[in-house]
Amino acid sequence: MPHDPDLPPAKKFKPGSVFFRLEKNKPGMLLPRKGNVTTPIDVQRKQLPIYQARTRLVNELRQLHNAIVIGETGSGKTTQIPQYLFEAGIGRQGLIAITQPRRVAAISLAARVSEEKRTQLGKLVGYTVRFEDVTSPETKLKFMTDGMLLREAIGDPMLLRYTVVVLDEAHERTVHTDVLFGVVKSAQRRRRELNKIPLKVIVMSATMDVDLFSEYFNKSPVLYLEGRQHPIQIYYTKQPQSDYVQAALVSVFQIHQEAPQSHDILVFMTGQEEIEALARTCRDIAKHLPDSCGPMVVIPLYASLPPAQQLRVFQPAPKGCRKVILATNIAETSVTISGIKYVIDTGMVKAKRFNPDSGLEVLAVQRVSKAQAWQRAGRAGREDAGFCYRLYTEQEFDNLIPTTVPEIQRCNLAGVMLQLMALGIPDVMNFDFMSKPSPEAVRSAVEHLELLGAVERKDGQVLLTALGKRMASFPLEPRYAKTILLSPDFSCSEEILSIVSLLSVDTVLFNPLGRRDEILAARKKFTSSEGDHMTLLNIYRAFKKVGGNKEWCRENFVNSRNMGLVKDVQAQLREICLKLNLKLESCGADTGSVRRCLAHGMFINAAELQPDGSYLALDTHQAVAIHPSSVLFQAKPAYVVFNELLHTSRCYMRDLCLVDADWLLDAAPEYFGRKLHLTRS
Ligand code: CDP
Ligand code: MG
Repeated sequence: MPHDPDLPPAKKFKPGSVFFRLEKNKPGMLLPRKGNVTTPIDVQRKQLPIYQARTRLVNELRQLHNAIVIGETGSGKTTQIPQYLFEAGIGRQGLIAITQPRRVAAISLAARVSEEKRTQLGKLVGYTVRFEDVTSPETKLKFMTDGMLLREAIGDPMLLRYTVVVLDEAHERTVHTDVLFGVVKSAQRRRRELNKIPLKVIVMSATMDVDLFSEYFNKSPVLYLEGRQHPIQIYYTKQPQSDYVQAALVSVFQIHQEAPQSHDILVFMTGQEEIEALARTCRDIAKHLPDSCGPMVVIPLYASLPPAQQLRVFQPAPKGCRKVILATNIAETSVTISGIKYVIDTGMVKAKRFNPDSGLEVLAVQRVSKAQAWQRAGRAGREDAGFCYRLYTEQEFDNLIPTTVPEIQRCNLAGVMLQLMALGIPDVMNFDFMSKPSPEAVRSAVEHLELLGAVERKDGQVLLTALGKRMASFPLEPRYAKTILLSPDFSCSEEILSIVSLLSVDTVLFNPLGRRDEILAARKKFTSSEGDHMTLLNIYRAFKKVGGNKEWCRENFVNSRNMGLVKDVQAQLREICLKLNLKLESCGADTGSVRRCLAHGMFINAAELQPDGSYLALDTHQAVAIHPSSVLFQAKPAYVVFNELLHTSRCYMRDLCLVDADWLLDAAPEYFGRKLHLTRS
């Protein structure tokens, strides 16, 4: 049933904040909806809403040390503001860093801006993301993930290379963003105290809790960019939907059949598997529609999609053809897609959830916040009036939490704590967090690091150990860093480096739908009864043997691009190992030592088979199950260590390795002796 457009709560304008009202573009000035390929890029730049505010914006930003910039997604904040600053000569003594929570966004934005500047990527404009650095001494505009700037801060706490730091997509509030806020703020203060070149901090977002941010960043003024936002008609379902994927499918085809023009549809889903499955169903159904329905292209969009495929969402569909984009929350603000008139919002998102009592972090599909729901709806009104179909009832909407809880309050803090301590900030509870994590979560993280030997308590203080310092050298989760550092003891550092690298990229397995039997047949020769780690290692060894042959990858259902990335990651991890004087050697066929090493590094994530065939996580006694994608799904070994937990219908362990109870006991005798009744066989 149609519902009155229920517009987002009026934006709050703070007294004293600067407000740029952008004139509505004159007819014909809108970016052409389709086929803007012929518009020269510098004309495109001038057509952006932000262009008219450029002079005043630059004048404001020139004077301010802290500023918050708010403007609709697509108004041009990220691509233009760094260029405006550079063109105006602001911060020329150093670099301008622009941080992004997402790796793909950092890469694609750098590519776009270097194109706009007509320079080669990596020269004037570059990017740095984990395991990939495309910058040079000439680089002045550097797009990077917030995690990378954080790592740089370990070596340079005052961030002296930079004159401007733009903290973009600040509303995302990832753990890294939140820690970075504190680090950047402290760098700015210390530079002022020491009379160094000042650091300008610009916080940008499409939406955020302005008061909270402004207060935190020294009462910084807020610059509002009023972009184009057209009215959006919101629809709710009458009844709660038990199957949001099915509901999304029905809605897509209802719009496709009933809406006369081929305007594009954007559907918000939760993850890769769900998106790929729905894409396939949509394509199948689209083939069998009556001729009165126009054609449809279905395009997936999620973070782990190879960049070349991600770019497809920006390409206009052929005339008369409807584009249906199935995306994760990446399309909420990180990427701007033009031409969307219909948004279908499942109201769900996959996110981390952490239970400090159990110490377990799980990925789970959960409801979005109201702020996210509004952001999603907003994607429909960029160029003209639009429609948003919420696949939940209005009452369900009312019950959503107002804003997303920052990740720092719902994840395992062990990695963050290790980084903060490596930054020389031992008193983590008193770190200047915008939103403090709970004391239980901090305590649980300290315990985790203590178990790994990364920290120790002395006179009531928590101190980084020598091992902890070495662990912090790796851009990895503490337990992976620890596993690498242990590997020389088991003479298997080459194998562990390969495994950790394989786990650091998105899956190297290529699983096209509908070819299950072929895939199983091809995988069989690599499958190891010792678990998923060993299976991956077998695949990697075979891949290297054939010299990274693409044909081989195709035949064996291996993602050759991700395999290439694994090689890069491994090379970088190896470099860190060499700096730390680690002995690199291979154990050859002795895979037992590899598993032993994994048991020693990952013992916190161990599970035990129960008489009834279920599993219990050893440290928390939580019921867990082997994910059906694991090679150990049928085998059900007595003891396993696992990489992560995924909560869907139940709590699944993913990526498992078969281990011996004795190894776990050897790894942490006191811990297992105290907490569990694990006995030697
Ligand atoms: O940051 P904000 O959401 O305000 O906008 P932006 O990322 O600077 O993007 C402004 C415009 O640049 C978009 O609407 C696109 O038209 C264009 N753009 C693009 O074509 N390709 C990209 N990779 C990024 C932006
Ligand atoms: Mg942006």
